Amino acid sequence: MIIYGKAFIDGGILEAYITIEDGVITRISKTLDHGEKVDHDYMRCGHLILPGFIDIHTHMRDFEESYKEDFSTGTMAAAAGGVTVIFDMPNTRPRNNTLAALEWRDDVANSKAYVDYGIIYGVPRDLDNLFGYEERAVAMKVYPDDFVENSLDHMSDVLIYNYAKGVPTIYHAEEPRGYREGRDDLSLEVEWTRYVAEYTSQIGVQSHITHVTCCSVVDEVRELNPGATIDVTPHHIMLSREDLPPPYGNVRPPLRSRECVDCLLRDLVYGRVDMVATDHAPHTWEEKMEGANGFPGLETAFPILSTLRYKGFISVSDIVRLYSYRPAERFGLIDRYGAIREGRYGSLVVVDLNREYRIDPSKFFSKARHSPFKDMEVRGAVVATFVRGEPVYLEGEIVGGKGYGENVRRLL
Ligand code: DOR
Ligand code: ZN
Repeated sequence: MIIYGKAFIDGGILEAYITIEDGVITRISKTLDHGEKVDHDYMRCGHLILPGFIDIHTHMRDFEESYKEDFSTGTMAAAAGGVTVIFDMPNTRPRNNTLAALEWRDDVANSKAYVDYGIIYGVPRDLDNLFGYEERAVAMKVYPDDFVENSLDHMSDVLIYNYAKGVPTIYHAEEPRGYREGRDDLSLEVEWTRYVAEYTSQIGVQSHITHVTCCSVVDEVRELNPGATIDVTPHHIMLSREDLPPPYGNVRPPLRSRECVDCLLRDLVYGRVDMVATDHAPHTWEEKMEGANGFPGLETAFPILSTLRYKGFISVSDIVRLYSYRPAERFGLIDRYGAIREGRYGSLVVVDLNREYRIDPSKFFSKARHSPFKDMEVRGAVVATFVRGEPVYLEGEIVGGKGYGENVRRLL
């Protein structure tokens, strides 16, 4: 299979023929050999081939909440968003924090996914459900409630195990007791970020703090734990609580003030943020109207980032770094993902940087056909998505196979 076009390779944009065999890029060349022919030609104005996006924070739901989303619709949404690897969060029903649930989750994902997936495991209640989880999971997620429901001794046993196994731990940082009481002010996030950053730097474990909402939180992490990494969501860098009031605007951590939104975007522009992740959190419209927290995000992340590029905030190279390279590097996938290079998987996204349109959630593949970005004018669209050399999304259509997606833990 040969894909031809302008591609983001080694930090620059080159015209290249990309040959993919058995899912892996085997050759990147300026010319074709005699008799070779191109399967997909993207040498069109404004079209660019980038390494496939990697979204380390999504909720595929499924299990008892498949009415909200399942691995099939969730990974179709990913494919339409140019995302070739999603990480699935463990706040499922039942929770994904026992080895039995993890095995079940992997089986369900394996039979339904259109793109590759990593499973994030929840904090188990006992050590019997800890040992060996890393064979199927890429990371562990720690929620505020985990610090209420478990002793500190148990939490440090778990974190030290992760450290020994080299598995990154991802934190939702809001102070647990305040969180339980329903408070949502910025001080909860600042306080708990400070605690997590200090605590994990003392015991030496790798930590990643997800959906950071304000530059003051970025400052805490950078000062207290320079080794920690952070991500931001498209909604927290674009929308203030005034832009999107409750109930639709409900999300945890919440949308903040316009000052926070602007300074968080500034931190992204200045390279103080490691990556972007959507926190794709699908709910039905009725649930949203009753106050459910979170939004679908997989099908709007690239258009939002591309629009920021058009407006001069970030570059194509930033988009690749934030939504492909750094996630791959941080979560142990860099040997196979995160760059267009010989020996890496042919997991690619083709984008049109110039296409202008309005966000229309009625066209989403996600079961959640609503969006905080509804009707926003954007510039930039996903044209095609390839996972290990196979087209899964082409010009508005899902063309991949259900169950083609693999657990990245097994692929690596
Ligand atoms: O807004 C949110 N939605 N924040 C969370 O922490 C959970 C998520 C969900 O699962 O819906
Ligand atoms: Zn989440």
